[in-house]
Amino acid sequence: MTAVADYSEKIPNNVDLHEDRRLQRALESWQPNFLNWWESMGPTLPTEDVYLRTAVNVGREGWAHFGHVAMKDYRWGIFLAERDLDRQIAFGQHKGEPAWQKVPGEYRADLQRLIVIQGDTEPASVEQQRNLGATAPSLYDLRNLFQVNVEEGRHLWAMVYLLHAYFGREGREEAEELLHRNSGSEDSPRILGAFNEETPDWLSFFMFTYFTDRDGKYQLGTLKESAFDPLSRTCEFMLKEEAHHMMVGTTGVDRVVQRTVELMLEHDDEEVAARGGIPLSVIQKYLNFHYSVSLDLFGSETSTNVANYYTAGIKGRWMEERRKDDHKLTDDSIHVDALIDGEIGQNEVSALVGLNTDLRREYISDCEGGVKRWNKLLESAGLSQRLALPHVAFNRKVGAYSGIEASPSGEKLSAGDWERRKGEWLPTDVDKTHVRSLMQPVHERGKIAAWIAPPRQGINGRPFDYDYVHLR
Ligand SMILES: [Fe+2]
Ligand SMILES: [Fe+2]
Repeated sequence: MTAVADYSEKIPNNVDLHEDRRLQRALESWQPNFLNWWESMGPTLPTEDVYLRTAVNVGREGWAHFGHVAMKDYRWGIFLAERDLDRQIAFGQHKGEPAWQKVPGEYRADLQRLIVIQGDTEPASVEQQRNLGATAPSLYDLRNLFQVNVEEGRHLWAMVYLLHAYFGREGREEAEELLHRNSGSEDSPRILGAFNEETPDWLSFFMFTYFTDRDGKYQLGTLKESAFDPLSRTCEFMLKEEAHHMMVGTTGVDRVVQRTVELMLEHDDEEVAARGGIPLSVIQKYLNFHYSVSLDLFGSETSTNVANYYTAGIKGRWMEERRKDDHKLTDDSIHVDALIDGEIGQNEVSALVGLNTDLRREYISDCEGGVKRWNKLLESAGLSQRLALPHVAFNRKVGAYSGIEASPSGEKLSAGDWERRKGEWLPTDVDKTHVRSLMQPVHERGKIAAWIAPPRQGINGRPFDYDYVHLR
C-alpha cells in the first residue's frame, strides 16, 4: 500500500488502483457522471478558484494540501486510513476474529444497504447547499462552504469506491443511483428526511453543519468499528475531514450569537432585528428545528435490524473499544424513550435492540457541548438569556414520539395546542423571511455581513482578509 496519492493518475488514490484495471476502468467511467452531477447539482456561484484543502495522504502529519484551485478541477480522491494488519473484530459474535478484507456473503446485502444510505447523504448536502454561495457573509465563509461541499463530494467517492470494489454489478448500479436521486426531488428524493429539507440561508447552514453533519460523524463512528475493514478504514479517514465541517458549524453559530450579543448590549434590549441582527429567539427556533430533525436520523428507539448488525459485526457502537462491557451485550438492557399509556416515558429493552438509543444519547451529549459554548458567550456578556436543546419528544417525525406533540420543555400537547403554539418554537414564515432578508452577499475581501461576527482565526494560518475565493 502506498500512503501518498499519485496525482498523475486520473483518480488520486492510496488503494493501488492501477493494479486493478477492471476496477479502475469502472471508476473512470463513473467519474464523468460524477462531474456532470457536480456541474448540474453542485455550487451555483461562478468562481475562478477557491483556497481549498485537498487530501493527499493519510498519515498523521500533513495529510492535506492547501492551495487555490478551480473547483471543477478539484482532485476528488480515494483514501483509506492505513491498514492495521492485526486488526481484530471488536464486538458481536465474531469478536476476536480477524477483520474481514472481503464481504462475507451472508452480510453482503446489509453492508451494501448501509453504504448506500451513508453515500446518499454526501451528495444530498451539496445539493441542499448549492445556492448559498450567492449570499455568503464573507469570502472566508464562502470558502468554508465550498470546502465542505468538495469534501462531501469526496465522501461520495469514498462510498462509490466501496460499492465498485466489493459489491459487483449491484454495487455499480447503486453508484449510479447515488447521482440520480436528488435532494427534495418529487420522484426520486434522497433516502433520509433531513437531507430533503432545504438549506436556504446561512443560519440554516451553520445549524446543519452543527447538528446534521454531527449525526454523520456518529454514523461514521459506528461504521468505523465495522468488521469489514475497508469500510472501517474509509470511515476513519472521512472522520478526519468531518472535523472541519463540525468546526464550521460550531464557530458559525458562535459568531451569529456573538454578533447578536453585541447588538443586544449596544442598545440594551432584544430588538436586534431592526438593527440587522438575528434575535436570540430566532436562533433558538432554528436550533430547535435542526436538532429535532437530526434526532430523527438515528431511527427508532429500538431496532432489531441494528441489533443484528451489531451481533454480525457490521456496525458497532460509538467508541466501541472504550466501552467497559463484554461487547456482545446479549445479557444487558437499556432504558429507551417510549410512550407509556400515551404519555412520555421510558421502557426497558435489551441493550442490543436499543442501540439506536445508545448512539442518539452519545450524540445528544455532544450537542450539549455546543449549547454550553453559546451560553458562555451570553453569560460573559452579562446577559441572562440562554439557549437550550429542546426535549427529545419535541417535533419528532420518527420514533416513539412521532405520534404525539410536545413542547420544547417536554410537556405533551394536544394537536390544537401544538398548532396554536408551534410558531413560538419553530421558525415561522416571518422569521424565515427576515433571516433571508439579511442574506445579502459580502464578497469583498476582508468585509463581513452585519448579522455575524468575524472569525477569530482564518484558514491554515491565513488572516480573515485573505483572498480565499476569486469570483468570476
Ligand atoms: Fe460527509
Ligand atoms: Fe460533513
